[in-house]
Amino acid sequence: MAGNSSVVGEVLTFDDVIIVPGKSPVEPRDVELSSRVTRRIWISIPLVSSPMDTVTEWRMALILARLGAVGVIHRNMSVDEQAMQVRRVKESPPSPWYEVAKSTPEEPLSHLDFRLSEIGVGAAVLFEGSEFKGVYVAKGVRGEFWLKKAEAIAALVSSVKPIPSIDEEGRPRVGAAVSPYDVKRAKALEEAGADFLVVDVAHIHNVNALRGLRQLVKDVSIDVVVGNLGTREAVLDVISVAEDVGGLRAGIASGSICTTGEVTGASMPTLTAVMNAFDALKELGAEREVPIIADGGVRNAGDAAKALIAGASSVMVGRMLAGTEEAPGSLVSVGGRLYKQYRGMASRSAIERRHASDRYAGRSKLIEEGVEGLVPYRGSVAEVLLEFAAGLQAALGYAGASNVGEAWKAKLARVTQAGLREIKPHDIVLG
Ligand code: IMP
Repeated sequence: MAGNSSVVGEVLTFDDVIIVPGKSPVEPRDVELSSRVTRRIWISIPLVSSPMDTVTEWRMALILARLGAVGVIHRNMSVDEQAMQVRRVKESPPSPWYEVAKSTPEEPLSHLDFRLSEIGVGAAVLFEGSEFKGVYVAKGVRGEFWLKKAEAIAALVSSVKPIPSIDEEGRPRVGAAVSPYDVKRAKALEEAGADFLVVDVAHIHNVNALRGLRQLVKDVSIDVVVGNLGTREAVLDVISVAEDVGGLRAGIASGSICTTGEVTGASMPTLTAVMNAFDALKELGAEREVPIIADGGVRNAGDAAKALIAGASSVMVGRMLAGTEEAPGSLVSVGGRLYKQYRGMASRSAIERRHASDRYAGRSKLIEEGVEGLVPYRGSVAEVLLEFAAGLQAALGYAGASNVGEAWKAKLARVTQAGLREIKPHDIVLG
């Protein structure tokens, strides 16, 4: 290499690779998606929502837990408010469907109307245990629309078979974001019942952040997921200060609203960040103990499957959920189409809110590393998540894996630009 040999390698992103088809032992609908999100916590759909103020507050976290995934409450609010949001999830019933099944026959179905109006939906899919019982459309709603919706969800549910993410006492699971310096917040969240914490900084591989982390993991007893990071060295340094780290959040500057790579020139695409983290854990013999969450740029089930094959145990998504009903962003109509607001946590407007409400977050950076914009409105989380899960089952089926553990044995291969073009629909006029 010319110069001072400072170019150390090549990085790969999701579109640089394809999944190599492998011999599948099962049908896609029987692919098992359960996986670990932290050292001690399993979920049935390996998806985690980003701690962002246009993605995850209590409503998002609750619906995700009810459907078998999990949410991480953002930290762009006061400690008391964030702790209250955690409590709100923990104190809610784990699953409306479970409730429904329990309520019949002792409780008349009409009680369901009240429950549905409370959570703002027009129909419910009825289950007894995991057995599909039918579809109920609430009184007074336009039946056709909700019936179709409920039937579509019922079909997905019977394929994906989600199991609510609940703790030992049957309460919904929820994570919460903290800064590595904020022990006070971390303790308040633990006390409020958070199942795990997610350290939420753009670059944990920083001497001060690591010092903060060392103290933080000593002061709480729940799992602490740490990030973001993208290199082998960062993983080794994190583990040297926090030996029993609850998980790693891998990916630098791949997020859809992220301008870090553009502004600073620094990045580690999520796919390579996961591979680097997995290699480091393997070196330590810890790849089966410390789960990796692939964070940033995951657009669909195919990207998620690639991340799992590269060594992740779950994926974290912002944009995929930002357009849903349950996301906190406001609904906007542009030219007759509906959108929701979505913004990076290092965008100007998010930073301004942080200054106003949180004295404990430490000084923010002086530059913006995120943008804000709109994403198309996508309806309920149930549809988006279950479609994602069904897609992931199909992707792992092609990879020849019958569960997430087996995905690690599947293979990815580099694809050329010509190959990438051919993969997409081509040479037709799209209707
Ligand atoms: P997405 O799923 O591609 O939208 O990426 C979401 C991820 O982007 C989050 O989980 C964070 O890791 C990251 N992120 C959130 N806000 C910002 C920002 O303002 N700048 C850079 N990255 C961000």
